[in-house]
Amino acid sequence: MKKLGFILSFLIMGSTQAQTWSGEVAQIFYDKCTACHHPGGAAPFSLMTHAEVSPLAAAVYQCVNTGEMPPWPPDNNYQQYQHNRALSNTEKATITSWLNNGAQEGSAAQTPPPPVYTSNTFLGNGDLQVQIPTYMSKATSQDDYVCFNIPTNLTQNRIIKAVEVVPGNREIVHHCLIYLDPTSIEATDTIGGNCASPSNGSTKLITGYTPGATPMILPSTDPLKLGLDIGPGSSIYFAMHYPMGSYGLYDSTKVIIHFYPQGITNVRQISAGPLLANYNFNLPANQVSDLNAFYPPGGGTIPSNFSVLSVFPHMHLLGSTIKAYAYKPGADTIKFVNIPKWDFMWQDFYFFKYIQKVPLGYKLKSEGTYDNTANNPNNPHSPPQTIYSGFNTTDEMFLTYFHYLPYQPGDETYDLEALISASLTDYPLHDNSSIVAYPNPTQDALTLAFPLSLQPSDLIYLYDVNGQVKLKLTPEAGVSQIHLGTENEEWLGLPKGVYFVSARVNGQLLSKKLIKF
Ligand code: HEC
Repeated sequence: MKKLGFILSFLIMGSTQAQTWSGEVAQIFYDKCTACHHPGGAAPFSLMTHAEVSPLAAAVYQCVNTGEMPPWPPDNNYQQYQHNRALSNTEKATITSWLNNGAQEGSAAQTPPPPVYTSNTFLGNGDLQVQIPTYMSKATSQDDYVCFNIPTNLTQNRIIKAVEVVPGNREIVHHCLIYLDPTSIEATDTIGGNCASPSNGSTKLITGYTPGATPMILPSTDPLKLGLDIGPGSSIYFAMHYPMGSYGLYDSTKVIIHFYPQGITNVRQISAGPLLANYNFNLPANQVSDLNAFYPPGGGTIPSNFSVLSVFPHMHLLGSTIKAYAYKPGADTIKFVNIPKWDFMWQDFYFFKYIQKVPLGYKLKSEGTYDNTANNPNNPHSPPQTIYSGFNTTDEMFLTYFHYLPYQPGDETYDLEALISASLTDYPLHDNSSIVAYPNPTQDALTLAFPLSLQPSDLIYLYDVNGQVKLKLTPEAGVSQIHLGTENEEWLGLPKGVYFVSARVNGQLLSKKLIKF
């Protein structure tokens, strides 16, 4: 934790009217911080309430202004992604000015109701669960990187439509990468704490877990059904990262896989793989070096159109910048990702808001820089040593993974976020709450029945699965029911998907999950 006296040097009075937690600030924390910072969440402390945030004012000020929090390495001016975690300039200015003006709470009763976090799985129990054995972290003064290859025991081919990674111990799983090993060729490696990647090209990265991440959910409803085949003899390969200081604590992370029903047709098969890869390099000590990779690797251009869903750049501790794009002389560059400040701790698949069409005749390229000098605080060697391409954390890698598939006309026009939200109605989501909703799931109208009578001043919000407020409901005095769709017609205009009602009524927090299909 940073020094808490820090804030005193920033007590400059702003000219605008002072913001308050209940007025402007809580909602920004709900949108951008609490997905990780809630009780039982991935971050080391909760930032759900004024009482929790105000003692950390100095640390919050610093993290927000350095851009360290929320963690979101990609440059949003380069490309747009789903689940963008970054603060907008306005949000940053609001938090800063609120802190500068004494971090006032305002009226507690007017604090918007917080988003609802389900403590368990997001998508339910799924069709296949693959779990690593209970492992004790060995991370004392260095992080512990270990790999497990666990058979799926599948007896027939299935098509994956979603994968959820459930950390066994959210406090110690800093990140984890999940690969599909179709022939169980990989080995478990828990010796030495230095295993960062599988060692065979046939083993494909399919998803990752970083704290606060939502599961990988493919659109599974018309007009776009996407899937990934998995068959008998396959294993799931887990590359686990346990941070320094977690020594002696136990984890048993699992993945929960959801399949399409057997016999389904019209599912378009996606591929996952490091199209951009360079395994043939060394990085001399005390130098900053550049690396490139191309696809097709042997020269030439891509022979047919394809559609790209996501990008995942991968380097180890010496990485400092990475960029990936597709280009063709005289044509527009197709931008995938630009990470101006690489952070090994916060790697992710970035799913595009819109599918990126890469026409035939283009070439893919990635550019990376590596800082193998003593100025790089993450350099694992002091003094620096020449580093080679390799699978250990202390070796280096230069890869960019993609999820992609052959292009079909119209692919670039799909709103992926909306299609994924609509696909969520396929999943039985667990629920335990105090508001009764019927019918639920519903196609149109729905009644919410509250356990007590409501007042117009009560705050009743409807959040989508990304924690964004979609509706604010104002009850009439004395009622205990709200009819969505008849009284609140905006409900009918919301896309299909999963929503949470969250209400602050008479000082109590109440919640309910709703499904619109
Ligand atoms: C994706 C998950 C995630 C999100 C979103 C997130 N944090 Fe964090 N935060 C963490 C984790 C994990 C840590 C622990 C340090 C680390 O691992 O980087 C942390 C640490 C912190 C710290 C302590 C930093 C220090 O230097 O010790 C502060 C303060 C903080 N977060 C504030 C925020 C604020 C404010 C927001 C929203 C604007 C936010 N965080 C959003 C995951 C998150």
